[in-house]
This record gives sequence, C-alpha cells and structure tokens, in this order.
Amino acid sequence: MRLKIIGTGRYLPEKTATNDDMAKLVETSDEWISTRTGIKQRHLVSSPEENTTYMATEAAKRALKNSGLKPEDIDVILVATVSSDYITPSTACMVQRELGAFNAVSFDINAACAGFLYGLNTVDAYFRSGIYKTAIIIGVETLSKIVDWSDRSTCVLFGDGAGAVVAKADETGMLACLQGSDGTHADVLECKARSNNNPYVSTSKDFDYVFMNGQEVFKFAVRKVPECLNQLLEKANLTVNDVDYFLLHQANYRILTSIAKKLNLPMDKFPSNVDQCGNTSAASIPILMDELNQQGVLKEGDLLFLSGFGAGLTWGAALLKW
Ligand code: COA
Repeated sequence: MRLKIIGTGRYLPEKTATNDDMAKLVETSDEWISTRTGIKQRHLVSSPEENTTYMATEAAKRALKNSGLKPEDIDVILVATVSSDYITPSTACMVQRELGAFNAVSFDINAACAGFLYGLNTVDAYFRSGIYKTAIIIGVETLSKIVDWSDRSTCVLFGDGAGAVVAKADETGMLACLQGSDGTHADVLECKARSNNNPYVSTSKDFDYVFMNGQEVFKFAVRKVPECLNQLLEKANLTVNDVDYFLLHQANYRILTSIAKKLNLPMDKFPSNVDQCGNTSAASIPILMDELNQQGVLKEGDLLFLSGFGAGLTWGAALLKW
C-alpha cells in the first residue's frame, strides 16, 4: 500500500496586498518585485483570529469535504509549518480539536518550504508499513508575523495561507519519494526562536525575524530540484517526458523558469500561482495542488513531480500518480 491523494483544500486570507501596497511600506516598486520574483500580490491575515490554526483547519475541512471522508475516519494529522500559534501544543493537535478528528495521532513537522513533502514522505512510510490507512497533511504559514516589515529584501516575498490534502492507503499513488537536509547551510535562511529569559542568561528580549541570503537559496533550488527529479525518475524507471506537471515550491517565478530551462521543458508544465500568493513556504504546493484540482487540470493517472526546498537547508520530492 502507498499514499494516494483523494481530496484537496485551501484557505487564503481575503486580504491581499499588491506590490504598490508594499511600496508604501518600504523602498521598493512593482517593477523590481515583478521582474525579480514574478510576485504581483500576496494574501495576508488581517485579524488575530485568522491565525495558523484557523487557516489550517479551514483548508483541512475543505479537503475532507472533497475526499468524502469524515473527521473520525482520519488516522494521522500532519501539519507542516514554521509559524505555529503556540510553541506547544502543536498546530496539528489544535486542528484535530477543531475538526473533531478524535481518532488521529497529530503532530507538526518543521522543515520550512520542504515541510509538505516531508509530510507526504512520512505518511507514505506509515501506509507502506501498514501502521495507518488515512491522513490529512497540511501546509500552513502565517509568515507575515515572522518577517521584518522594514526589510525590503524579504518582506515583499512572503504570503500567508494554508493547503491540505487527504490521503488514503491504496495500490497506486506515490511511485517514489525522497527527502534530505544539510544543516551546514543553516544560516542561509533563518529565524531565531525567542531568547532564554531565565535569570542566569543575559540576552536581549528583542524578537528576531526572517533573514535570508537570497542568492544562495536561489542557487541551491536550481541545483537541487533537477537532482531530486533525476533520482526519482531512476528509482521509478521513468523519464522526464512521462511527467505531466511539475508542482514545485512557489518561491519565485525566476527559480521555476531557471529549472524549466535546465530541464529543457516548456513553462506550461510548471503551473504557478506565485504571482497571486507570493511564497507561502510549506503551504505553497498544497495550495497550488488544490487550485489545479478545483480547476479540473489534474486528471486521473496524471504523473506529478512535486518538490519543495528551503531553510535547513531542506528538500523533498515525490513522483505521484493522480
Ligand atoms: N526592492 C528594491 N530593491 C531591492 C529590494 C526590493 N524589494 N530587495 C533588495 N533590493 C536591492 C538590494 O538592496 C540590492 O541593492 P544594492 O545593489 O544597491 O545593494 C539589489 O536590490 C540587488 O539585491 P540582490 O539581493 O542581489 O537581488 P537579487 O537579484 O539576488 O534578487 C531575490 C533578490 C531575493 C529576489 C533573489 O535572490 C531570489 O529570488 N532568491 C531566492 C529567494 C527565495 O525564493 N527564497 C525562498 C526560498 S524557500
């Protein structure tokens, strides 16, 4: 048995901020942001109630409805996020409570923009070993609370949102997957947790924000995604021409075009919504997948290559039959 996706859902905050809105906050322009990243707008939460748990729960409810399963049918809830509402409990436990999915084991995965792929990998391993048979995998981020809104090199790139899939153990679905990490480059993209305020430690109580060496991340993504693709194609005994769609982490349109060029493939094989959503980290792939599912683009039997890459450094990939 292996992982088969049987339902998708997404939640995007109603509030959007255009590049012109960004130009009111920091010294930037629509022209700079559009040409460097392809981003035109991003969705941002606009109330304290519209938080990580809320977005994750809404996306999960929609994915459940799309799958036909009920909350009590679910064995595992995995939430990939770096922007939980609480240090503890996990977002997954909060979502379990909100859904009433009382039979599920629930936990979070912290693997940044590769988090959703780590979730798919983990659930596929559970299904193959026969431990569990159904799961909800959610990617959700409220990145707007951890970016520095005075740093133009990062704040224009990110957005908020959630995407979810419901998966069940089946004979078909996941053909091959992989995940990896390289902590030696941890400092390329980071956001420190709160500092220790015990009486024996003297540290500043300032919050820390996302820091990124954009060019290093860019080079890493353009190198790593084709590497992952080749490994998985070899494992599954397939060729690049067998792949119908490449659903890659939506960090930046220039990363997508560079990868397509490297693989000598047309851009219509690389669906993208980065212009509308910005980079939503762990949420980007399931949001895009739900959009394509709702639009009827994905057809039964289509071969999808998924790949996420980001802070850690981390990466993950999957070859999946729809
Ligand atoms: N508006 C206007 N100017 C900006 C700007 C903004 N929002 N952000 C940075 N700049 C300026 C810089 O200050 C710099 O100016 P300087 O030359 O006077 O110092 C100039 O633009 C070039 O900056 P640089 O960082 O070299 O730009 P770049 O061409 O590498 O593009 C990114 C920056 C972030 C768009 C690009 O590196 C990138 O896409 N990286 C991948 C990031 C990513 O996707 N991360 C998430 C992965 S999970």
